[in-house]
Amino acid sequence: MEFSSTTRRNFLRHTSVVCGGLALPAVAVAVEQTFASEGAQPQDQAPEDKAEGKHKPKGAEEISPAEDLMREHGVLNRILLIYDEHLHLLATKKPFDGSVLASAADIVRHFVEDYHEKLEENFLFPRFRKAGKFVPLVSTLQKQHVAGRDLTAQIRELAATATFKLVSDSDKLADSLRAFLRMYRPHEAREDTVLFPAFRSVVSPHEYDALGEDFEKKEDDLFGEDGFFKIVDQVAQLEKRLGIYDISQFTPK
Ligand SMILES: [Fe+2]
Ligand SMILES: [Fe+2]
Repeated sequence: MEFSSTTRRNFLRHTSVVCGGLALPAVAVAVEQTFASEGAQPQDQAPEDKAEGKHKPKGAEEISPAEDLMREHGVLNRILLIYDEHLHLLATKKPFDGSVLASAADIVRHFVEDYHEKLEENFLFPRFRKAGKFVPLVSTLQKQHVAGRDLTAQIRELAATATFKLVSDSDKLADSLRAFLRMYRPHEAREDTVLFPAFRSVVSPHEYDALGEDFEKKEDDLFGEDGFFKIVDQVAQLEKRLGIYDISQFTPK
């Protein structure tokens, strides 16, 4: 997160703020100040159904490799929520339309495994190995990509037989979904907090910038212009069909 000078000043001024006897987390205060200093309150944001996909911010294509990879993890996280919801449906023995789960697994295959993980395997992992940094971690991440592909194949196959009725092999499907969730949450969290932040240390500044452009070009070549936003739209459509798109339902009452 880049802090503007105004934000940074506000952050420093408020790091020790105390409210009602409780010290507020400094980051929360800084974020609040960011909204305040820019004259935009959170509730002033465009409705989410208008903001997704069709409202790409200007200059959004000029993003760094780390930001690019992290927002792709955002897509993966939304698929994990779709998988979570299917685990809940299976546990409560509710029938579901297997085509939603099959489509989610297809997005994992085409966007996460065949694109995002290929970027990691072709552009990040070799550079960390060459620099001798995080070599055991890179080895684990690589193995997990392979294991993930097996799980996706199982989920895709079982989901295809589940359309409009209770799955006959629901235990097996639940096991595959659980194993996928169990592995990918720590996997992507470790990449976001350890590997991606260290990526700048194993490439030159010029190479770092050039890779950002390369990643975007590959994304557009594979998924069309503004390809990332098209994928986000596809995930949003699946969330709507599943009834988990409106995130206000998750706010504690
Ligand atoms: Fe990965
Ligand atoms: Fe990743």
